[in-house]
Amino acid sequence: MNKKFGVKILSTGSYFPKKVLTNADLEKIVETSDEWISARTGIQERRISEKNEYTSDLAYKASLEALKTANITPEQIDLILVATVTPDMFFPSTACFLQKKLGLMSIPAFDLSAACSGFIYGITTARAFIESGLYKTILLVGAEELSKITDWTDRNTCVLFGDGAGAMILSASEESDDVLSTYIGADASYSDLLFIPAGGTVNPATVETVNAKMHTTKMQGRDVFKAAVQKMAFAAQKALEFSGKNLEDIKLFIPHQANMRIIEAVAKKIGISMNSVFVNIHKTGNISSATTITALDEAIKTGKLQNGDIVELIAFGGGFTWGAAVIRV
Ligand code: ACO
Repeated sequence: MNKKFGVKILSTGSYFPKKVLTNADLEKIVETSDEWISARTGIQERRISEKNEYTSDLAYKASLEALKTANITPEQIDLILVATVTPDMFFPSTACFLQKKLGLMSIPAFDLSAACSGFIYGITTARAFIESGLYKTILLVGAEELSKITDWTDRNTCVLFGDGAGAMILSASEESDDVLSTYIGADASYSDLLFIPAGGTVNPATVETVNAKMHTTKMQGRDVFKAAVQKMAFAAQKALEFSGKNLEDIKLFIPHQANMRIIEAVAKKIGISMNSVFVNIHKTGNISSATTITALDEAIKTGKLQNGDIVELIAFGGGFTWGAAVIRV
């Protein structure tokens, strides 16, 4: 592809629902303990959306913050992309609902489904649109309400997930090139290790599927754990290689926040110190496609990243899917 433009990352933003669910709260719901959850996952609390607060609402609030920071109006956006596995509805897309909430009309808007790797797939997509000259200013959002696809009687999964949204605005530039590289991959041989069995065309919704709790996340934790470590380390190395940078050039590594032990194992496999790894899993739990972008936003807001720093985002999720992106903030 002939590259017509470089990509400038204008801003980031994030939003979390107000309600906090602590490990102590979970002790009252399932047979678990703060000690088990903290030791096995690193998670202490997560945010949970209200019944009438939808994925597009979280996406909207994160987008408003990103627009404010970029100092641009919604009308300057010419494409909306939303990475999510928890859309408001099957259709219209959450991106369409977000477009409406932003008061926009006519510009294209679509969702992108790559589970926890969704935001990395999103950066890759946004980059291709901008570099080709097709769109100039893209609002990219990772937004999830995993609490609404969780079986709250299954202690194997319900302690892991949370809700939240993050947004990034990327725009065409003749001077900057803030997306140094991206790498994405997928392998459906493992699709039955992490999935929601019903609700799609394989098992359309019936009274039986609802009674059997087939509309909630099912996971083989140990197998997912092993694949996550392997594929995240692989993706991190690939994206780094494509960027032409070395490990020492990366100010901060921001891995998908699924499990503290996965993050530590990935850091060890890549050969980096935990001092250069950003972690906020204790406050958020796993928020799928929203993890890397909300973590990036927090790292910028808390001064862990300065203008011009190079960051690597790394993710892994259902599919399986994986990916990494080396970007300049
Ligand atoms: N509280 C107390 N005990 C528990 C809990 C709990 N919440 N959950 C499981 N246990 C028990 C199990 O029943 C088991 O008991 P047993 O030995 O008597 O059978 C024991 O703890 C050990 O269970 P394991 O599953 O082997 O525990 P493990 O150390 O593997 O940790 C975990 C489980 C946290 C799920 C881990 O495997 C993990 O993080 N996996 C990866 C999850 C992930 O990365 N998901 C990513 C993507 S999600 C997405 O894409 C939407």
